[in-house]
Amino acid sequence: MTKDADDAIEQIKTRCDIVELIQSYIPLKRAGASYKALCPFHNEKTPSFNVNPSKQMFYCFGCGKGGDAIKFVMEKENADFPTALRILADKYGIKLPERSGAPRGSGDKKDRLYKMHEDLAVWFYKKLIENPQNPVSAYLKMRGINDEDVKKFRIGASPDAWDEALKFLSKEGFNENEMIDSGIILRNPENGKIYDRFRNRLIFPICNEQGKVVGFSARTIVPDAKEAKYVNSPETPIFKKSRILYGLDKAKDGIREKGFAILCEGQLDVIAMHKGGFKNAAAPQGTAFTEEQARILKRYVNKIIICFDADDAGKKAALRAMEILLSIDVEVFVMSLPDGEDPDSLLKSKGELALSQCVAGALPFFDYLLKSKVGHEKNLTPWEKSAVASEIVSYISKIGNAVARVSFCGILAQKLGISEAAVLSELKKTKKTQGETSTNNEKIENNSANFASSPEAQVRKAEEIILELCIAHGTFCRKLSEDIPCEMISSTPVGKAIESAVSMTMNGEWENIVPVLKDKLIEENDPAICRIIAVGSEISGDEAQHKAYNDCVRIIKAYHLNIKIAGLSRTMPEEKNEVKKNEIMGKITELKKEILSLRVRK
Ligand code: CTP
Ligand code: MN
Repeated sequence: MTKDADDAIEQIKTRCDIVELIQSYIPLKRAGASYKALCPFHNEKTPSFNVNPSKQMFYCFGCGKGGDAIKFVMEKENADFPTALRILADKYGIKLPERSGAPRGSGDKKDRLYKMHEDLAVWFYKKLIENPQNPVSAYLKMRGINDEDVKKFRIGASPDAWDEALKFLSKEGFNENEMIDSGIILRNPENGKIYDRFRNRLIFPICNEQGKVVGFSARTIVPDAKEAKYVNSPETPIFKKSRILYGLDKAKDGIREKGFAILCEGQLDVIAMHKGGFKNAAAPQGTAFTEEQARILKRYVNKIIICFDADDAGKKAALRAMEILLSIDVEVFVMSLPDGEDPDSLLKSKGELALSQCVAGALPFFDYLLKSKVGHEKNLTPWEKSAVASEIVSYISKIGNAVARVSFCGILAQKLGISEAAVLSELKKTKKTQGETSTNNEKIENNSANFASSPEAQVRKAEEIILELCIAHGTFCRKLSEDIPCEMISSTPVGKAIESAVSMTMNGEWENIVPVLKDKLIEENDPAICRIIAVGSEISGDEAQHKAYNDCVRIIKAYHLNIKIAGLSRTMPEEKNEVKKNEIMGKITELKKEILSLRVRK
């Protein structure tokens, strides 16, 4: 990592308070020196999520997730390290150097890919605007897309040829492997020849959140063509479809200004929305809307209007998107377009006013469901009520926030003219069937508790407690170096942490253990160390700590002595020489005595 990037990370760490940060996502309750909450990463009824302000760490006893502020953002926003840094930098107004935090070595390759896409986007654009006779121009005119739109969205045209992009890229100095890695150029497996993926098509460059071109989506301009309507770039190191939303780079400000985002189906819809005054529209990438995309949108705004086609496929996709958005507590609305219309056709035939009326008429998810399920709200038969209730409750049950979930049950009860208790009991039923998996998880947890009685697990636990104590008091580090030979400490992350704690203490650097371990954590990401740093030791008081320490030392030593005994016992029957056999027996007795003495020693 560059020095600038390190500086930026340091700045983020000083500026960001983990309590404040986490509080902006979930409510925290003070509990002594730390804070508690229901864990945002797994379903639970009693809070096992802890935030430690002095260590600036979080840890959940339930699911084992933990770490610092950056880790929290990575988990919560489903972001990789560089993205999490960017989110925090944006939040605290810190300037990040370009590409900070990118893994070493991958930078150059990615830079080349970005450059290739940028060069090619310019080239496609020129192919379109420098040739007014281009058939793509005629197609665009027909779809109501003007020069201004072409410029804003950098729309282009790919020539009707097999190797023009290939020749252009070669001239720009890109080699065959790079071109094939980008997916822009393909290899024919039969004759090994390489050729252009995008031929005779309308080109939409796809940009990432920062506005860099990372891929292309190419629409046919031939009516009723036999080939695919869209040809898209494949996934590459810079193009992860599940994380990219078309138009988001241009919609960011609009989303913030308007206070909501419009989620469309495709490129042409997004462009139409922006033309029609809704510069807050974006669309998934020719694939189904994903939770990752939902979380990305949620970073900007908490209200989303879904605008999908009125056909069956569109309706189904809208319901799925609704589910995803509800599960991350976004306020969902659904807008309906007149039958057979999509945003661009509506804009073309009826104008901006008609489009904004549709947006204004978007229904809260709830009313949309009621309307689409029954079509009317009055005079439902008991059976209709029951069917509608269980259908809608299944969506309500997806909502993460408990208060919102229960409130919606109240609203539904009122609308259907039934008791709230009836709706709530329906919710409970749904949650129960959905909860089957979480009950399984509980079972696994219980099993692992049983596991804890295996000698290996006991040793692991003992090392964790020793590490806790070593972090609490330097005395334990010093004692440990005398009490346990270092080969008896395991080479697990916890064991290694104990060893560094001991050797740092010996060098007079006990104070630095926590910062050093925190740095290591980022690399190793070990849940046990994380918990220990974030939550500290639950054992308090001199006496209790010493007793715990002695117990743990005993467990670890006894474990290793038992291994030795087992080894000797295995060799004994094979030993023919009586003298030697006696010797082995003597050793075993000694070891057994040593184990016994461990028990009585204080
Ligand atoms: N899409 C795709 N591959 C296909 C079909 C569609 O990737 N074979 C994606 C594209 O991102 C497209 C979006 O799904 O923008 C919506 O599809 P559709 O409405 O069929 O595209 P339009 O170009 O708007 O088609 P039409 O002219 O029929 O409105
Ligand atoms: Mn369409």
